[in-house]
Amino acid sequence: MRGSTISGLGRYVPKRIMTNAELEKFVDTTDEWIVSRTGIRERRIAEPDEASSDLAYEASKEALEDAGIRPDQIDLIIVGTATPDMLFPATACILQDRLGARRAGAFDVSAACSSWAYGAAVAHGYVASGQADTVLVVGAETLSKITNWKDRGTSVLFGDSAGAVVMTASEPGTGFLSFHLGSDGSGGSLIALPAGGSRLPASYETVERQQHYLTMNGREVFKFAVRCIPRAIEEAVKRAGLAIEDVDLFIPHQANIRIIDAAAERLGQPKEKFFVNVELYGNTSSASVPVALYEAVRAGRIKKGDVAVMVAFGGGLTWASCAIRWTMKTQTSRQ
Ligand code: UT7
Repeated sequence: MRGSTISGLGRYVPKRIMTNAELEKFVDTTDEWIVSRTGIRERRIAEPDEASSDLAYEASKEALEDAGIRPDQIDLIIVGTATPDMLFPATACILQDRLGARRAGAFDVSAACSSWAYGAAVAHGYVASGQADTVLVVGAETLSKITNWKDRGTSVLFGDSAGAVVMTASEPGTGFLSFHLGSDGSGGSLIALPAGGSRLPASYETVERQQHYLTMNGREVFKFAVRCIPRAIEEAVKRAGLAIEDVDLFIPHQANIRIIDAAAERLGQPKEKFFVNVELYGNTSSASVPVALYEAVRAGRIKKGDVAVMVAFGGGLTWASCAIRWTMKTQTSRQ
C-alpha cells in the first residue's frame, strides 16, 4: 500500500473576537476564573449570516492553494462538524458546490470534536488503497450557534473556526504512520445537542425547554479526557512503531490547558512538546486540531522529517489519534 500525507493546509477564523471581559458583561463569570480553569482568553465568533460551510470554504481555498491543487482535481471531500449548516444536505456537499469540485464525492463525519481526525483516518484509507488521489478533509464549526449564552458552564469554552488539509499519496513510511479511533457510546449524554433530530424533533416545547443548545457535564468530560488522551497518544505511537521520545510535537484537541498539562504529566513528557493555542480560540471542536496543526507548521514547530502526534476527544464519546512524519518542505504559502 502507498502512504498518504498532508500536502496543503488552510485555516479560517471569523474576524469577531469575544474576550473574557466581554463575557463578564452578560454571564456570571470572571476573566480570572476562565483563564485559571481553562487557559482561554478569547474566542472567535461567526457573524449571524456566517455558517460552518462559509468557514470551511475559506479554509479549503487556502489549503488547495497551498497544495497547488485545483478544485476539479479533488476526488473526495470530507467535512467533520458538529454544527452542520443543516441536517442535510451535508455541509461537504455545500462546500463541494462552492468550490466547484465537480469530480468529488462529498460527505460529513459526525464524531463531535474528533470529527476531523475521524475524517483524516477515512481519507487515509481512500488514498493508501488507491481509491482516491486527492482528498480534502475539513473541520468546520460554528459552536456559537448552539451555545446557551446564559450557561456559564459552556458559554465561556467554545468558539468558531475551520481548518482544512489536502491529503495526497506519499511513499510508504512517510506521511501518516498510524491512526487509532475509539468510542464509548455509554457516555453519550455527557456532551449532547438533545433536540432537532428524530428522537426529539424541533417543537415549541423543545425550544421552551432550551433543548437546541449544547449541554455538557464538564467535570465528567474532564476526567474522561485526562484518561483518554495519554492512552490514545500511546496507541498511535505504538502503531507507528515508535517510542514516545521519538515524537517531536504533540498536537492535542484544544479544550482546556489543564487537560493538556495533565496529559503531558501522565506521559512524562515536557509541556513544551504540546502545541497550545487554546488561549486564542477556545474549544473549536472538530476545527481545533487542524487549526492547531496549521499554526504549529506556520510557527516552524514542525519541519520536514519531524514526527507529530495529533489527538482529539469529544462527544460520542469519541477519541482519535494519529502519527505523521511531516513531508512538506516549506511552511504554508500565505501568512
Ligand atoms: O471538546 C470536549 C468538550 N469539553 C471539554 O473538554 C470540557 C472538559 N471540562 C472542563 O474543561 C472543565 O470541567 C470546565 C472548564 C468545564 C469546568 O472546570 P472545573 O474546574 O471542572 O469546574 P467545576 O465544574 O468543578 O466548577 C467549579 C466551580 C463551581 O462552583 P462551586 O460549586 O464550587 O461553588 C461552578 O459553579 O466553578 C463554578 N463555575 C464557574 N465560575 C465562574 C463553573 N463555570 C464557571 C464560570 N465562571 N464560567
